[in-house]
Amino acid sequence: MADRTLDDEAQGADDGVDARWVCAQADRFGLEFVPGGGALLRGVSLGAIAEAVGTPTYVYDAEGVRERISRLRSALSGRRHGSAQAPDPLICFALKANSSLALLRVIAREGVGADIVSGGELARALAAGIPPHRIVFSGVGKTDAELDAAIAAGIRSINIESAEELQRVMARATAAEARVPVSLRVNPDVDPNTHPYLATGLRQSKFGIPMVQAPELAMRAHRHPHLRLVGLACHIGSQIADIAPYRESIMHLRRMIGTLRDQGVALAHLDLGGGLGVAYREGEPELDVAAWGQAVRVETDDLGLQLAVEPGRWLVADAGVLLTRVIGRKRGEAGAFVIVDAAMNDLLRPALYEAYHAIVPVRTVAAGAPTHRVDIVGPVCESGDFLGLGRRMVAVETGELLMVMDAGAYGMTMASNYNTRPLPAEVLVDDGRFAVTRPRQRVEDLLAQEQLPDWLT
Ligand code: LLP
Repeated sequence: MADRTLDDEAQGADDGVDARWVCAQADRFGLEFVPGGGALLRGVSLGAIAEAVGTPTYVYDAEGVRERISRLRSALSGRRHGSAQAPDPLICFALKANSSLALLRVIAREGVGADIVSGGELARALAAGIPPHRIVFSGVGKTDAELDAAIAAGIRSINIESAEELQRVMARATAAEARVPVSLRVNPDVDPNTHPYLATGLRQSKFGIPMVQAPELAMRAHRHPHLRLVGLACHIGSQIADIAPYRESIMHLRRMIGTLRDQGVALAHLDLGGGLGVAYREGEPELDVAAWGQAVRVETDDLGLQLAVEPGRWLVADAGVLLTRVIGRKRGEAGAFVIVDAAMNDLLRPALYEAYHAIVPVRTVAAGAPTHRVDIVGPVCESGDFLGLGRRMVAVETGELLMVMDAGAYGMTMASNYNTRPLPAEVLVDDGRFAVTRPRQRVEDLLAQEQLPDWLT
């Protein structure tokens, strides 16, 4: 029976805005709600997963990721306008969005490459079976050790971010007696019209080489005996819903490619970065990927370069849910709280960006059940520890399972041990079955990673 005080707050016959959206978008999430039962992800009961594995747990949908890879491929295929000039684009999944080894293996088997930003991500990409010739290395601060590892692995391109980094790559390439493929990551000073933390291609941002410096650095890279300047790269931001900022950066890149051609430098590769936006809630604009793919091909095909794109979020966000259980409910003076066992350490996005994630019960909710306004919060000792504020949802019981939607991107990869909370478990659902791909961390594991100095033992 629902809490009486919460019942008093009932706001009428409405399943709650998230529940309505998730039901309407069930296909997108690979979900089915069984009447009288609960949510099935590709036929696998999320309740059964929580029963077996506990909570909080990230659950990923392998088939959902494959579907998105195939949609992105056909968006970029260029068949619609019949140009055969340019080779097939390469999709390099941005590992920072989700670096689960099992999911990366699924992605690797689809022939997708990787965009990495650290030595750790390089090791993961290789361990997952992504071939080096499909790996590009972005990132504003690469250490010598990371550069050496990338050079030794023989990756497709190191994307250079500054004059100083170019100097260092030259030194490392010379020391390795290698000929290292590099691209310049330029900063086209384009406003992607997104959350300020997610814009990376503005003049004031720390990313990329300013356009004015780029031609000279390109010539330096081109002339160096141990480097091979293969291309240009740019990434202007994340969660971009419009095609226009992409068009604008392509325009800048084309100008630069022209300047280099005039100086006798022919490139092979053009990396447009990631940033493809998804809708996290009803009515939120999202990128029309088919139109984007076509626009990108139309505006780059005549260059005859191989395109690379670095999507993270778009490939995996919808294909992951975070399962969490209600620990308790509480009424404050200003409203009601549902306290769940997932917190900001498990899913940081709401706390860090005030990001919205739809949250719905796993059980199938009767249409027209009354809803209440609640804040869904975690147990961490911070007021910023919330998963959703002011949500209208049906009354939930303590012990009940909820799912946080669109948690497949930047969920587990941004999780921490804050409040000495062990990292959640990860589960992969594929072909009607599921497997734990990362067991829940234990407090013992955390303590075992530390050591006391001799004078304190
Ligand atoms: N390439 C580069 C060089 C990047 O820096 C990023 C993301 C991507 C590709 C992939 O972007 P995507 O396609 O996922 O938008 N933690 C934030 C997102 C930070 C994105 C950082 N860079 C969030 O949770 O929204």
